[in-house]
Amino acid sequence: MMERLQCAELRSRIITVTQAAALFRDGMTVGMSGFTRAGDCKALPAALAERARHETLRLNLITGASLGNDSDGLMAEAGLLARRLPFQSDARLRRRINEGQVMFIDQHLSETVEQLRAGHIPKIDIAVVEAAAILPDGGIVPTMSVGNSASFVAQAERVIVELNTRMPTGLMGMHDIYVPEAYPGRQPIPLTEPDQRIGTPAIPVDPARIAAIVVTHHPDSPSSVQPPDADTRAIARHIIGFLEGEVAAGRLSDTLLPLQVGIGTIANAVMHGLVDAPFRDLRMYSEVLQDSAIALIDAGRVSFASASSITLSEPVYRRFMERLDEYARRIVLRPQEISNHCEIVRRLGIIAINTALEFDLYGNVNSTHVGGTRMMNGIGGSGDFARHAHLSIFVSKSVAKGGDISSVVPMVAHVDHTEHDVDILVTEWGLADLRNLAPRERAPRVIECCAHPDYREELMDYFQRARAQGGHTPHLVGEALSWHERHARTGSMRSEQMACA
Ligand code: COA
Repeated sequence: MMERLQCAELRSRIITVTQAAALFRDGMTVGMSGFTRAGDCKALPAALAERARHETLRLNLITGASLGNDSDGLMAEAGLLARRLPFQSDARLRRRINEGQVMFIDQHLSETVEQLRAGHIPKIDIAVVEAAAILPDGGIVPTMSVGNSASFVAQAERVIVELNTRMPTGLMGMHDIYVPEAYPGRQPIPLTEPDQRIGTPAIPVDPARIAAIVVTHHPDSPSSVQPPDADTRAIARHIIGFLEGEVAAGRLSDTLLPLQVGIGTIANAVMHGLVDAPFRDLRMYSEVLQDSAIALIDAGRVSFASASSITLSEPVYRRFMERLDEYARRIVLRPQEISNHCEIVRRLGIIAINTALEFDLYGNVNSTHVGGTRMMNGIGGSGDFARHAHLSIFVSKSVAKGGDISSVVPMVAHVDHTEHDVDILVTEWGLADLRNLAPRERAPRVIECCAHPDYREELMDYFQRARAQGGHTPHLVGEALSWHERHARTGSMRSEQMACA
């Protein structure tokens, strides 16, 4: 404990989780660490949920991104969450959001702390952050994510630290904490390479502001991504073939440009495909590192990775902890406003690969809303990267739910990434390069390269009839969302004609 809690004056502030939970009042705004199940607070969410089961306690909860340990589900079911931002991926919380019981604000992940700083979001009353250690000057050493923790700590009235004795102290030095200056007169962020360090190894804080320390001993929750399958392997092959073409054309070198890869099974599988690709000395400037990033480091393909969190499956997590010293030389974790900052994304020339639920004939992408209305997870960092990337790639399987849903539709029922932010679309059937194409040129390419063969003919029929009506971006406005309407009504996007065929 002495090795972890190096600030002597804080030793008397260790209290139980029940005592810490008693510091919260109904209506407070709380900032908690945690980003894609990594580095989240392990004890207070459950203790607060327990309080909410017996008394009126509703909080506005802001995190980095999603939490592990079932925390979001527990808190949602206990009725603790009045408002939740900026991202989640929990089935039980998702249900409460879609029932209208939790007000969820789906935000670009780089923007939350800017909005807090500006007072657009109410001030944080209590920040709760997980730490591997507290330094002699009070500096908080985060664990497997940084997320928004540095800004939560800077802005909160009171700070509670969950000191996790399960986290190796070898994590010290893996973080680079930099918070941009206030407006007006903000200076450029001095980051020009993914492996550069521009900040401090710990979150600075006056020890007097740390109200309490709760000791925990829990690992992060393992990631829930599924292994690659035939479809995701095909998607990876199309992307690798495309990148090889860019190298052959002289637009990229064989070290490519820094890679950003989104969350989830598909993105992870695509990155796995790079293990056998003919590129070398790759660097990542991403938001989350999944198993695939570790596989690429192990294979000697990735020489350095910058992110805001590391979310791994159980066996990879174990290996990571066993060989922490090696990985710590090749990885840096940053606040999410820096890992996702538009200034840096544009400067570094990121190749961004994110996942769509569906996309349309002209390249608009829906990453968040099933059927146009029901929240899945949130936009996450995909928009931070897509708009400013050197190459913005979106991937999806061509169909979902056993073929009843086509991921290529006439018009997306909700837009997260407009056609202006999308360069390349990929499914298991092929890759549509939309660069330098007008909408009328895009549609046939998207249909031929990406749509499932079962849906191609009807998509082409829609496009041809729409084109006959004219317009820069041809649509039959009354019919454009009919595929979603049919799915809601019949459980399938297949038309009667298709069902008979
Ligand atoms: N309509 C309805 N459901 C769909 C769908 C569609 N068009 N496309 C996919 N789905 C369903 C799948 O059937 C699956 O459902 P299940 O969980 O019941 O099996 C679920 O969505 C997840 O799809 P999957 O194919 O397993 O992909 P994934 O794990 O890679 O997740 C996203 C895909 C889009 C949900 C996920 O990447 C996401 O939330 N992205 C937005 C945030 C983001 O991009 N962050 C990146 C920056 S880190």
